[in-house]
Amino acid sequence: MRIISSTAAMQKLALQWKRAGVKIGFVPTMGYLHAGHLSLVRAARKRVGKSGKVVVSIYVNPTQFAPTEDLSKYPRDLKRDLKLCREAGVDVVFTPGDAEMYPGKADGNYSTYVVEENLGRVMEGASRPTHFRGVTTVVAKLFNIVLPDVSVFGQKDFQQAAIIRRMTRDLNFPVKIIVAPTLRERDGLAMSSRNKYLTGDLRRQATVLWCAIQVAKFAVQKSKSVTAADLKADLKKLIEIEPDAKLDYVEFFNPETLQRVAQVKRGTQMALAMFVGKTRLIDNARL
Ligand code: PAJ
Repeated sequence: MRIISSTAAMQKLALQWKRAGVKIGFVPTMGYLHAGHLSLVRAARKRVGKSGKVVVSIYVNPTQFAPTEDLSKYPRDLKRDLKLCREAGVDVVFTPGDAEMYPGKADGNYSTYVVEENLGRVMEGASRPTHFRGVTTVVAKLFNIVLPDVSVFGQKDFQQAAIIRRMTRDLNFPVKIIVAPTLRERDGLAMSSRNKYLTGDLRRQATVLWCAIQVAKFAVQKSKSVTAADLKADLKKLIEIEPDAKLDYVEFFNPETLQRVAQVKRGTQMALAMFVGKTRLIDNARL
């Protein structure tokens, strides 16, 4: 396994592979890897085969964090991540530094961003207004550096995956986007690097997120169609029974267009975000 931190060296290697007809599968991450990330690595390998190359990027991207968010505290453990990548059969880990990824930014000379203007306005985009601009920018840059044929994203970040798909189509990136299912802990909590913050009773309280999804699924099965406003109010009450839990949003929408629906039915997509203590968690499901 090679570890590359220079953008030029990564791009040069990717170009060599391309010329030799080698397929490139790519999994972008912010590190602190867990089984969910590793399932994306397996999906990438499956797509490119033994003769292809799998690249994982590990980069905590500052432009997708607001000044008030957890950038400096975001969990990091590169040594462990590298070991997991080696064991998972990754060919290259790309770990650029900020000066490589955003040349000139420290002295105000970085000025190009990629913005998706529709799907990114709601939910995560409404709660975190500069977040998706950072995500689309870094993913576009990573696509230009790693030159993947296939790139794998997690369903866990449903809206992010939808925006990346849209960006890839709108900007003609020659990349096939794969969205892989969410891996969960035994009690239903979606795996996330941020789960590290959930100490003591907060970890137990966090399971209310999965509970809310189950309640919504059950409501739809039972009554075929439920008013979104009523279900939202019920789920807010349910979540906020936990002493440290606060609902940020819960939305019901069309999975293709992300347009809100007034009536929730089978096939409606649900997404929600909540705080447990200071930690913000998200999850989603097709009902
Ligand atoms: P990160 O949160 O590290 O996630 C990297 C990828 O892993 C994303 O595609 C995410 O959806 C997926 N993932 C996270 N938890 C998962 C789970 N429990 N099961 C399956 N997949 C899971 O998302 C980002 O990083 C960044 O925004 C990034 C795309 C790398 C851009 O900086």
